Amino acid sequence: MPETFDVIIIGAGPGGYVCAIRAAQLGLKVACVEKRATLGGTCLNVGCIPSKALLNSSEHFDEANHKLADHGVIVGQVSLDLARMQARKAEVVAANVKGVEFLFKKNKVTWLKGAGRIAAAGVVEVDGTAHTAKHIVIATGSESIPLPGVEVDETRIVTSTGGLELSVVPKHLVVIGGGYIGLELGSVWRRLGAEVTVVEFLDRLVPGMDMEVGKTFERMLGKQGIKMKLKTKVTGAKMHAQGVTLTVEPAAGGAAETIDADIVLVAIGRRAHTEALGLADIGVALDERGRVITDAHYATNIPGIHAIGDAIVGPMLAHKAEEEGVALAEILAGQHGHVNYGAIPGVVYTWPEVASIGETEEQLKARGALYNVGKFPFTANGRARAMGDMDGFVKILADKTTDRVLGAHIIGPDAGTLIAEIAIAMEFGASAEDIARTCHAHPTLNEAVKEAALAVGGRALHI
Ligand code: FAD
Ligand code: NAI
Repeated sequence: MPETFDVIIIGAGPGGYVCAIRAAQLGLKVACVEKRATLGGTCLNVGCIPSKALLNSSEHFDEANHKLADHGVIVGQVSLDLARMQARKAEVVAANVKGVEFLFKKNKVTWLKGAGRIAAAGVVEVDGTAHTAKHIVIATGSESIPLPGVEVDETRIVTSTGGLELSVVPKHLVVIGGGYIGLELGSVWRRLGAEVTVVEFLDRLVPGMDMEVGKTFERMLGKQGIKMKLKTKVTGAKMHAQGVTLTVEPAAGGAAETIDADIVLVAIGRRAHTEALGLADIGVALDERGRVITDAHYATNIPGIHAIGDAIVGPMLAHKAEEEGVALAEILAGQHGHVNYGAIPGVVYTWPEVASIGETEEQLKARGALYNVGKFPFTANGRARAMGDMDGFVKILADKTTDRVLGAHIIGPDAGTLIAEIAIAMEFGASAEDIARTCHAHPTLNEAVKEAALAVGGRALHI
């Protein structure tokens, strides 16, 4: 039966489902359209959650093989039950997606099952049935970017979706793209025994990452046995019975060579997914990269139609989509939702983890900012030493005049958790001295953050 709602959200990923819950909390009548069989979007079904499940499991495998003996824990012959590891991952995903379904019921959000299409402002068709709403929210997320000449079949040439589902550890996995997905999934399969080669077009991994952290990261991944072919482009792929032969050549041009792989992972970025929504018919403006153009209140050029998450500009991160979902719901309910884009952390969940927030040193230099740098290595942190995880450092960048924290970049154990402290500091406009004068429990990894903040003022204590 067609129904009328205050808000219809298309897409139940972290942007859409969080927007739905918040709008319902604020008393609006909400529906969320999702065509997938389960809620949670890319993140819960084929992204953040399954990749973190495999990263965690493969970390345990690696620890059992290489680290536990050093702690005096002798486990004998370690073997891999990949089927169990994959089954556990599926259980983790199932529990999470069911959790969202429970939250929809609890908050009385209607799940309209099927593919949504915007017929006109105020009208969403779901598999042919029209539903009406005062507000429509596009939260349809993103999809992986195809690479011409390297045809994905999700069996031998895979995107992250197929790369999370492998039932056999590849002998040689070639990853095209040294970004978030390539390095996380490359790490998983490397730890489980694959030879891994990353082919990256640029001269560095994870473009946009602070250069000093990026170089350290490259060295550490190299020590783990991940081979890098930087400044290299893939020009073609041939599938055959044994696997795939890739043709590569220097990015700047030059002699071609071939690389044999049994699995190729294409991870060269993602693009907004708005096809089939009918946006061209109703005139919703898109930018040159196919993202929905919005104003600061997530409104498109068509009154009553809004957009959030991976479908619009900004980092393609689940927590960014969630913050936008909350902000938009509050705006639609007459409140003043807002997202601070200067304080959105980004984390690569390899080991060690890499986390960053705010500006990099390169960005500060480019805009001619005057700044101080405070750095502290995990080798000088007691807890990191006790854990046996001393690789990496914390780097804090603060304004030279005001000491306000402008950015922080961490490579090391649990960097993704440590960065939250800096995010709060930046939200409150804190100075490095504010962090330095805050009592941190001992012995914790967070003391490395405090020491880096002390180092901004040239007064670190433990180095
Ligand atoms: P999505 O999560 O993509 O959800 C959009 C939903 O809309 C989908 O379920 C789709 O089926 C649905 N949809 C699309 N069109 C229609 C339609 N016409 N009708 C009905 N439904 C429709 N981010 C992090 O922050 N941390 C991580 O650790 C992380 N790991 C990742 C790992 C991988 C392998 C991948 C691929 C991504 C990862 N991301 C991570 C990115 C994160 O998944 C995205 O930024 C996030 O999911 C974006 O949320 P969204 O709500 O905008 O869109
Ligand atoms: P990415 O943008 O992180 O990295 C893509 C890489 O591929 C870049 O280094 C780019 O220079 C390179 N590249 C582009 N074209 C190429 C080509 N033709 N040949 C070789 N290299 C090429 O994209 P990725 O890894 O696909 O992930 C997509 C997005 O998903 C990420 O940007 C991130 O927003 C999100 N994500 C977030 C995670 C997290 O938060 N931990 C984990 C996984 C994904």
